[in-house]
Amino acid sequence: MSIHFDPAQRCFRLQTRTTTYAMQVDSRGHLLHLYYGCRIGVGDLAALYPPADVSFSPNYYDERRTRRASPDILPQEYTGCNVGDFRLSCLSVTDAAGARGADFTYVCHEVRPGKYALEGLPAAHDEDGAAETLAVRLRDAVTGLELELLYAVYADADIITRAARLVNAGPGVLRLGKAASACLDLPYGRWDLVHFHGRHAMERQAQRLPLPDAVTTVSSMRGASSHHHNPFVILCGHDATEETGDCCGVMLAYSGSFRTDIEQTQTGLVRVVTGIQDEGFCWLLEPGQAFTAPEVILAYTGAGLGALSRLYHRFLRRYVCRGPWRGARRPVLINNWEATYFDFTADKIAAIAEKAAALGVELMVLDDGWFGKRDDDNSGLGDWQVNTAKLPGGLDPLIDRVHALGMRFGIWVEPEMVSEDSDLYRAHPDWALTLPGRRPATGRGQLALDLARPEVVDYILGWMTDLLQNHDIAYVKWDMNRNLSDVYSRALPPERQGEAAHRCMLGVYRLLETLTQRFPQVLFEGCAGGGGRFDAGMLCYFPQIWCSDDTDAVERLTIQHGTSFGYPVSAMGAHVSACPNHQTGRTTPLGTRAVVAMCGTFGYELDLGRLTPEECDAVRGQIERFRRWADLIAGGDFARLAAPGENGSFAAWQMTAPDAGAALVSVVVTHPQANARPLHLRLRDVAPDALYQIDEVFVCGCGQAADAQCVTGPRALQGQAFSGSFLRYAGLTLPALYGDYPAVQLHLTRVDAPEEGDGNGPAI
Ligand code: DGJ
Repeated sequence: MSIHFDPAQRCFRLQTRTTTYAMQVDSRGHLLHLYYGCRIGVGDLAALYPPADVSFSPNYYDERRTRRASPDILPQEYTGCNVGDFRLSCLSVTDAAGARGADFTYVCHEVRPGKYALEGLPAAHDEDGAAETLAVRLRDAVTGLELELLYAVYADADIITRAARLVNAGPGVLRLGKAASACLDLPYGRWDLVHFHGRHAMERQAQRLPLPDAVTTVSSMRGASSHHHNPFVILCGHDATEETGDCCGVMLAYSGSFRTDIEQTQTGLVRVVTGIQDEGFCWLLEPGQAFTAPEVILAYTGAGLGALSRLYHRFLRRYVCRGPWRGARRPVLINNWEATYFDFTADKIAAIAEKAAALGVELMVLDDGWFGKRDDDNSGLGDWQVNTAKLPGGLDPLIDRVHALGMRFGIWVEPEMVSEDSDLYRAHPDWALTLPGRRPATGRGQLALDLARPEVVDYILGWMTDLLQNHDIAYVKWDMNRNLSDVYSRALPPERQGEAAHRCMLGVYRLLETLTQRFPQVLFEGCAGGGGRFDAGMLCYFPQIWCSDDTDAVERLTIQHGTSFGYPVSAMGAHVSACPNHQTGRTTPLGTRAVVAMCGTFGYELDLGRLTPEECDAVRGQIERFRRWADLIAGGDFARLAAPGENGSFAAWQMTAPDAGAALVSVVVTHPQANARPLHLRLRDVAPDALYQIDEVFVCGCGQAADAQCVTGPRALQGQAFSGSFLRYAGLTLPALYGDYPAVQLHLTRVDAPEEGDGNGPAI
């Protein structure tokens, strides 16, 4: 049992392996949040929040004389609105009389085995019965609005998920102006905020800030979780490091406009409220109707940022990703986008596939441009009939040619969009999101379809089903290349227009749910102009997501580094592309590009026919290496050893098998320096008392002279053995590596338990 209720104290305790989450129903019936942090034993948690009369913090009516309790001071589990808590609120609800207010009190609760489900929304699953659910029902006596707070405790995974469901059990219509998923009042302390900002082709740049005495907002208004902010934040102790300190993660499983606010409050608590973006949001609840707010995935550890990331990685891989591809090795693919853009023919694609197959690539992905009138990005979206000028005879002859090479075939789609210059738009202009009387803003020359309309979702389901049913397609890249503006649905009445953005998102989820259930054998990769929708909601349908349109290996270091705080390597779409790189013009060694792409799903995105024979050999070797290490890369425990930019010279990371039987260490020099310091690394996660041998060393890109020290230095490590404790505490030193962006990979295998005094010094 991981959920305990003490009826005398009316106190809930949710216990995971290393954390405790506690709430209490107070004497007035309010559900107070008492604690979320490292696992604790007995003690009076309510005493953490002593009664106090704080000026300008209004008192509950029954405390008007004593002035000892205020909704503005006590930690709340989910706030009401307009009843005296001036901190961030979860909710805004207005009744038919225009009165905005809600004050929830406890009605009942239920503990049940398994995981709650959220209708129409992505959510973590529980196939192995790992979770236990707590449902707490509260009610606002005046409006009759009921609030169901849902908690799933994954005790072994050290994760708690939350969601909120609002039901209008009153007699009148209610208007929700805000309906957040969760509120979290973190205990006292000095917290830093880690968040992930960016832009197209530069997503998820990790930024750590001391929490200011202000409200900080991380949000998107774009109809997508977006390149610009990510619905994941971490609060960590000011002194927390990768290996030490308190860290709390708040990850919203939602792919549309969202909002996460973080407030340093006057009493020293930190309040985090996260959920659907409330700007432009307004949801009408008729009597009997319900609204469900998306799921939040919470994690807490006292063991640093690295440990927090590993909790999320394991959880997302195991309990968020679904279907047969969840834990399976993904095929090494080649995508024609950067090789041809729109300018291809069946012969060109077949030639790319032929070369790729000869080098060991397993899947040929045909990107944008295979349908309708689509020779550039100004037309054709919506007309999903094969362009027979490019592909004579349709898709099947090309698919057959790819199959004949021993490869599988994959295809690109962008179902949520329409070009003005398309038959679909000419037939159904009202299916696009546009504001009455205004010219819509276009993005990449296209409009977004109104997925709040069920018939539009059904239409897409129809052609996607035909595509996947009638052709042997093993993989789909699902793209989305603009953000939503002009959000107005012609299918909704005026008073429900505030629902349009979220209803569009629900339409996307219905599409994805239906198609992934209907075609479980298809590997779906998410994409939104790169990583513009990289979130836990999408991971419920897509086990991998194209990380960024920037394929430059050096830029990818920071993008993948930031992404790794919350999301696993198995989810990060990463390819080796041509040089000079198409986005930055930078040239990096082919080997380095592969080392960086191996911190992801690994594939290629270039015309391999243009490589020299030596480069082709190198590619063959890369694919062999990746295949050998695939389980370690995708399923290993990931550690950030050196952040790009942290030491001014190199970035390094490590994957370690869950049983610590093997490890892979990767290093990329980002800034070679004269008279440089040696590269020193302390490894993580290896078993201190085990013996490891470095059984493979890969070095690349050390300049034309193949400088002796540069190449032989790391290679001299080949065959050497070290105790885990040595690797963790003394570490490894590589010589300074010369030239432009050299890289090293070291593979270690546990070979034995070390004898005492065996030359590596005493085991620590
Ligand atoms: C954006 C994607 O991120 C690219 O990889 C490519 O698929 C293009 N769209 C195609 O239009």
